[in-house]
Amino acid sequence: MENPFKFGTIVEEEYFTDRVNEVTYITQFVKSPNHLILISPRRFGKSSVVAKALKQSKRKHITINLQQVTSISDLSSKLLREFFKVHPMERVRHLITHFRVVPMVSTNPMTGSMDVSFQPGVDGTILLEDVLTLIEKAHSEKNRMIVVLDEFQEICDLAPKFDKQLRSIMQDQKHINYILLGSQESMMTEIFENKKSPFYHFGEMMRLGKLPRDDFHRYLSERLASCFSNGCEDLADRILDYTSCHPYYSQQLAANVWQVGVLQPDIKNPFKAAIDHIVTAHGLDYERLWMNFNRTNKWIMQRLSSGKSLQSGNYRTSTVYSALKRMQKDGYVIYTDRYEIEDPFFREWIIVSNE
Ligand SMILES: Nc1ncnc2c1ncn2[C@@H]1O[C@H](COP(=O)(O)OP(=O)(O)OP(=O)(O)O)[C@@H](O)[C@H]1O
Ligand SMILES: [Mg+2]
Repeated sequence: MENPFKFGTIVEEEYFTDRVNEVTYITQFVKSPNHLILISPRRFGKSSVVAKALKQSKRKHITINLQQVTSISDLSSKLLREFFKVHPMERVRHLITHFRVVPMVSTNPMTGSMDVSFQPGVDGTILLEDVLTLIEKAHSEKNRMIVVLDEFQEICDLAPKFDKQLRSIMQDQKHINYILLGSQESMMTEIFENKKSPFYHFGEMMRLGKLPRDDFHRYLSERLASCFSNGCEDLADRILDYTSCHPYYSQQLAANVWQVGVLQPDIKNPFKAAIDHIVTAHGLDYERLWMNFNRTNKWIMQRLSSGKSLQSGNYRTSTVYSALKRMQKDGYVIYTDRYEIEDPFFREWIIVSNE
């Protein structure tokens, strides 16, 4: 029997649940000439929801994760490589004649896909401009290409003033819809909401929340039923209480509960056994993270894990607030309707270790 839960990578088909409104919204939105900016904390399901909308839209699209890009030249070759997957080179060869630097293109015999590179030392902005112009030329206002740039906040680290250069290339384009994804709320807001930023009000801002409880509950209990003959609804409730409906951690916990149910069918408390298993598996990582926290961070994490107020005489409100902001930026803390520890198993580890 195959585990019916999936976590870590993009979820599709039977692993994907809900997000009906979001998928409809994105699919509809890209019919307009506008650009979309999608923000959420890590692993809330941005890539999955966009992948589903792209599929539904049946439009030509390419996706680049800027976290995997090392330079502007690398971004240009990755974009071009993805472009050739959508438009076979033979058909667009005539459009490459405007390139100021000729790309080196070869077929990878192992994968059959195109490898693209540029001669080193060339100004990356020229390459990028030529590649984006190629995409523009290969499309029309009626048949726009969708270009998804994931972890978009990384552009700030690629090269000084790159945001300005990129914006100036993008602003004249009429045949591309950009979907820009990011998981660092503060940086994304700074890029798109700060009047001084080149990307100020570049597109429509959309925030992705956690999955709605009712639907996620149905999804979990139906799948748990393939392993547990009764008590699935209660198990689903306990999972969602524990993870506060976080898409990734709920799937991770459900996958582990299911696994315990299969391997140890007589166990009394599969829910607790699954949590113990995950916390133990990540114990060393948690310990290392903990060692690197300063005293204020440790105090905040302890208070959050035990549900106690952060207003206390020990630290000034401004100190707590700026530490929280830093920890949110680093991904340890998320803010939805309140501040909470991002990883519920780290929260568990903190509680157990401080007992
Ligand atoms: N609609 C959904 N239905 C079921 N599970 C989901 C859904 N969306 C996300 N998940 C769960 O969350 C995990 C992360 O999803 P995804 O990679 O799409 O998120 P992300 O926001 O792009 O993450 P990252 O910040 O790492 O890029 C998935 O592997 C899956 O376990
Ligand atoms: Mg993603």
